[in-house]
Amino acid sequence: MTQEIKITKVAQSQAAGVDFHNIVMGTRFSDHMFICDYENGAWHNPRIEPLALIPTHPATMALHYGQAIFEGMKATLGQDGTPLLFRPEENAKRLNHSADRMGMPAFPEDLFVEALKQFVALEKEWIPTQEGSALYLRPFMYADEAFIGMRAATSYKFIIMASPAGPFFSRKIKLYAEKKYVRAVNGGTGEAKAAGNYAAAIRPTEYAKAQGYDQVLWLDAHDFNYIQEVGTMNIFFKVDGKFITPSLSGSILNGITRMSVIDLLRHKGYEVTERPITMDEIKAAHAAGLLEEAFGTGTAVGIAMVEAIGNNDFTLTLPEANPVSHMVNDTLNAMKVQQEADPFGWIVPAQ
Ligand code: COI
Repeated sequence: MTQEIKITKVAQSQAAGVDFHNIVMGTRFSDHMFICDYENGAWHNPRIEPLALIPTHPATMALHYGQAIFEGMKATLGQDGTPLLFRPEENAKRLNHSADRMGMPAFPEDLFVEALKQFVALEKEWIPTQEGSALYLRPFMYADEAFIGMRAATSYKFIIMASPAGPFFSRKIKLYAEKKYVRAVNGGTGEAKAAGNYAAAIRPTEYAKAQGYDQVLWLDAHDFNYIQEVGTMNIFFKVDGKFITPSLSGSILNGITRMSVIDLLRHKGYEVTERPITMDEIKAAHAAGLLEEAFGTGTAVGIAMVEAIGNNDFTLTLPEANPVSHMVNDTLNAMKVQQEADPFGWIVPAQ
C-alpha cells in the first residue's frame, strides 16, 4: 500500500506574480517540494512542504562520490483544466534503473507516481498554458549521509521540485561532432541519468558553443564513429523516407521522448529502425542527397530540429524543411494538452 503523503501548504502562493509568457526554465520554482527520507533500509515520511533550503553537512556523500540521479518530466493542463502527466511510470522505472547502476536504493514506483499526482495537483496554478510550455518536474535522489569513505551511502533523500518552462529551443540547432571527449563508454554510466554524466558534458559543450555550435553530437569512445546522443537528447535521422535512431547499447539514455517518438512515427506509418549508426553512413547519406531530416528528442527540449552537423573537418547542412519533425513536435504537444487524442494511453490525469 502506498504510504500516506503529509501535506503542508505555503501561506501564500507566489504563482500570481510570475509572467508565464516570459519564463526561462530553471529560473523560477513552484511553491512546494515533495520530500522523502531513506534510512535503515526503507523510505520514510513522504511529505509535501514549502520549497526550502535543505540542510547539508559538508561530508554529504553525494558531494564527494556523486551518488546523485534525476529525472525530467513535464506537467501540462488539459482542455478542461485537469493537470496531466506524461508516462510517469516510465520515469519511475528509469529512476530505479539509474539507482541500481549507482548503488542507490530503489524508490517505490507507486509512491513515485502518487507523489507526482498530488504534487502537480497542488502546483496546478504553476502550469503554463502557452503552446509548447509546461511545468518541468525534477524528481531526484542523492546520498545525504555524512561520511568520508568510498561505499554506498546508507541514507538518501528523494525530492520532487518544479519549474515552469516555456518552449526550450526557439531555433534549429547545429551539432558539433565531438572527436576528443566522450560522454559514455561500454560498461559505464551512460544509460543512467546520473548527475556526473552531465558534469562531464559541460566543458565539451562550452567548447562546441565557442566554435559556433549549439550542442555536442556524442560519438563512441572507440573510434569516434558510432553516434550516441546529442547534447542531453537522443537523436533521430530521416534517411530516404525512413527513420533510424541509435539502438540502446548500455551507454545511451533510454529517453522517454525517444520511446514515444518511435511509437508515434510507427503509428503514423513510418518505418523506424533502432540500430548502430555511424557518422560515416550519415555523411554518405548526405552526399547522396538522402539525409532528409534530423532531430533531437528530450523532455526539456521536446523536439529540436537539426540545421547542420560538423566539426573542423566537415559540415553537413540539412534541408531547410522539416515536415515530419514538425508533425512529431506538434502531435506530442497537442496530445499533452488533450487537443489531440492519445491512442497510446500515455497521458495520466494528476487528480
Ligand atoms: C531533460 O530533458 O529533462 C533533461 O534532463 C535535460 C536537462 C539538462 C534539462
